[in-house]
Amino acid sequence: MSIKNVRLEVMQAIEPQVKGFMDEFLIPTEKIWQPTDFLPDSQSDNFFDEVEQIREEAKELGYDFWVTLVADTITEEALPTYESWLMDVEGIDQHNGKENGWSKWVRAWTAEENRHGDVLNKYLYLSGRVNMREVEITTQHLISDGFDIGTDRDPYKNFVYTSFQELATNISHKRVGKMARQKSNGLLAKMCTIIAGDEMRHHLAYREFVKTIMGQDPDGMVQAFADMMKRKIVMPAHFLRESGGSIGTAFEHFSNCAQKLGVYTAQDYVDILKKLNSYWEIGNLRSLTEQGEKARDYLMKLPERLERIAERMKFPQTQQTFKWVEANGSL
Ligand SMILES: [Fe+2]
Ligand SMILES: [Fe+2]
Repeated sequence: MSIKNVRLEVMQAIEPQVKGFMDEFLIPTEKIWQPTDFLPDSQSDNFFDEVEQIREEAKELGYDFWVTLVADTITEEALPTYESWLMDVEGIDQHNGKENGWSKWVRAWTAEENRHGDVLNKYLYLSGRVNMREVEITTQHLISDGFDIGTDRDPYKNFVYTSFQELATNISHKRVGKMARQKSNGLLAKMCTIIAGDEMRHHLAYREFVKTIMGQDPDGMVQAFADMMKRKIVMPAHFLRESGGSIGTAFEHFSNCAQKLGVYTAQDYVDILKKLNSYWEIGNLRSLTEQGEKARDYLMKLPERLERIAERMKFPQTQQTFKWVEANGSL
C-alpha cells in the first residue's frame, strides 16, 4: 500500500476518537473567554477612562516589546492561512458529509484561535503605541502570501508541526505576559496569559493526535517526525513583510528581536523537541524498519546537536526598526 493510502486509513481509523479529543481539549463556546472580557466595554460610561488607563500603562513598555507583540498579533491574524491549509490535509475531509470528526476539529480549533488575533488587535489599536495601518498592511500581505511549512498534505507531518508550533506560541505569549506584568501592565499580562493557556490545550491535543497515530503506525510516524526536524520547523509567519518590502524580509528582523528579548529563543526550540521526544517515547520505539530506526536515532541525537549550535549562535544586537512601531518610546 502506498504511504498516502496508509495515512488515509490511519486517519479514518482514529476519526471516531476525535469527538473525545474535542471534549477533552477544547472549551464549549458558551463557556470560554471572549475578547470583550478583557477590553473596555464600549457600552459603558467608563469606556474612555479605561482606554486612558490602557494608554498610560502602555507607555511603560519598550520598542522591541511592541515589535514582538505586533508580530505575534499578525501571526495570529493570519489564521485563514492555517485553516485552509489544515482543511486540505489528507483525511481531514470537509466534503464527505459534515460528520467527519477531523474537519469538525479544524473548525472548532480555528474558532478558538480566532479570539487571539481579535483581542490582541483591539488592544494594539487602543494602546496608541503602534501604527495600525502598517500593521494592517503587513497582515494583508501575510495572508495573501500564505506559507509553506514543508508538510505537504501529510497528516503526520502536519500534526508534528502543530504540536511543535502550539507549544512555541504558548512559550512566547507566556513570556510577553510576564514582561507586561513586570511593567505593571496587568491587563495585557492577563490577556497574554490566557491566550498562552489556549495554546497549551491545543498543544496537548495535537501531541495526543501524534501519540495515537504512533500507536497505529510507529514506523511512518517516526519517519515523518524526523523529516520535519531535518527541514526545521519554520514559523508560520516566515513570509512576514512590511509595506513596500519583499516577501519574508521582516521575519528575520522580528525573530532577532524576539531572541534578544528572550521571548522565543533557539534554546526554546531545543526544549520543545526534547519534550516531544519524551512524550512520544521516541527512544523506546522498537521493531522498526531500517529507515524507522535511522529516524529514531536521528531524533534522539538531535537535541544535543542543536544545543551545541544554539550556544554558538550570535544575534545582531543592533536596534532594528519597523514601520509598525514609531520610535516614540524607550528603545
Ligand atoms: Fe493562537
Ligand atoms: Fe495556536
